[in-house]
Amino acid sequence: MELSRRTVMAGAAAAGVTATTLGSATAHATGGGKKPVKELFGTLADGTRVHRWSLENGGTRLKVLSYGGVVQSLEIPDRRGRYANVSLGFDNLDDYVAKSPYFGALIGRYGNRIDQGRFTLDGRAYQLSVNDGANTLHGGAQGFDKRVWDVEPFTKGSDVGLYLYYTSVDGEMGYPGTLRTKVTYTLTRGGDWRIDYEATTDKATVVNLTSHVYWNLAGEGSGTVEDHELTIDASRYTPVDSGLIPTGELARVAGTPFDFRRAKTVGEDIRVAHQQVLYGQGFDHNWALDKGVTSRPEHIATLRDPRSGRTLRIATTEPGLQFYSGNFQDGTLVGTGGRVYRQGDALCLETQHFPDSPNQPSFPSTVLRPGRTYRSTTVHAFGS
Ligand code: BGC
Repeated sequence: MELSRRTVMAGAAAAGVTATTLGSATAHATGGGKKPVKELFGTLADGTRVHRWSLENGGTRLKVLSYGGVVQSLEIPDRRGRYANVSLGFDNLDDYVAKSPYFGALIGRYGNRIDQGRFTLDGRAYQLSVNDGANTLHGGAQGFDKRVWDVEPFTKGSDVGLYLYYTSVDGEMGYPGTLRTKVTYTLTRGGDWRIDYEATTDKATVVNLTSHVYWNLAGEGSGTVEDHELTIDASRYTPVDSGLIPTGELARVAGTPFDFRRAKTVGEDIRVAHQQVLYGQGFDHNWALDKGVTSRPEHIATLRDPRSGRTLRIATTEPGLQFYSGNFQDGTLVGTGGRVYRQGDALCLETQHFPDSPNQPSFPSTVLRPGRTYRSTTVHAFGS
């Protein structure tokens, strides 16, 4: 459906037909990439200026901060062409610094949890910054989400985008090796948002980069996402202990609340008294994607808001997907549009390697060695 709509618009553009004459087919016109525009967003306590970049292409509008590579706003049209910002965030820098639960941020060096913040690599033990009870979450106390990235805009053919660079020094947050990271955000002429991650190191280390957008396809601040329909192409997931650290088992989803192989609303099984649902206070687990690690991004999940018709289709090279149903949103944050965020008002679909892989020899490896390049790609395709 989404493809045919784009084809219609491409044809319409060629014939010189304006979008409005097509009524509901206005969504996601093809092309129209504009040069990214930069503006000052705020200033950190140490005087560092943080900028916001605005990009638009193929009917998708994206605003990105140099702080944390944060997606501050992502607007897409509904089936009637009406735009909404479908990503949770704040309208000011201070809130991002003081209280953001990783809204829209780039996550590194290691997305998700590492047990006790400890691991051993090549016989050497490392202790990381611990910031989630006894464990390390999303890179430690000052992860990539709290760093200011160097941002360079680009236009390439009909694509527009940003290159984001950050170099993490040897020992930062306890991780070995100088890690040079480059993340490319591309808005394609079809309105897809693509993320390409690359990293190199000068010492053996572990890496697991991801993006932490909180999606609400009805629009941020509009209420619960329990009515969103979700499909995840995974027959297994990684059960966790009470600290949300994987037990090492790859359990079957069949017959459990974790079975999203066919479209199911987020709310349908979220109140099933399953031990794993209790541990997560909802869904906060890693699905082991059936496709595994792939050299090219392959489709793994679809999210749909039946009311607006907005859809998100995700393809990735990664073997895992952390589906987090916004369980720890507690009504204390005021979002971009001035509305309060409550439990379940958004969800995250984080493409990544499995949590705690450095301590789980049977999980796909997250080790990066000098001379090798870490590469990972995730594509978000929107429709309505
Ligand atoms: C994790 C949650 C965590 C949240 C922080 C998610 O990626 O899975 O457990 O609370 O990030 O905002």
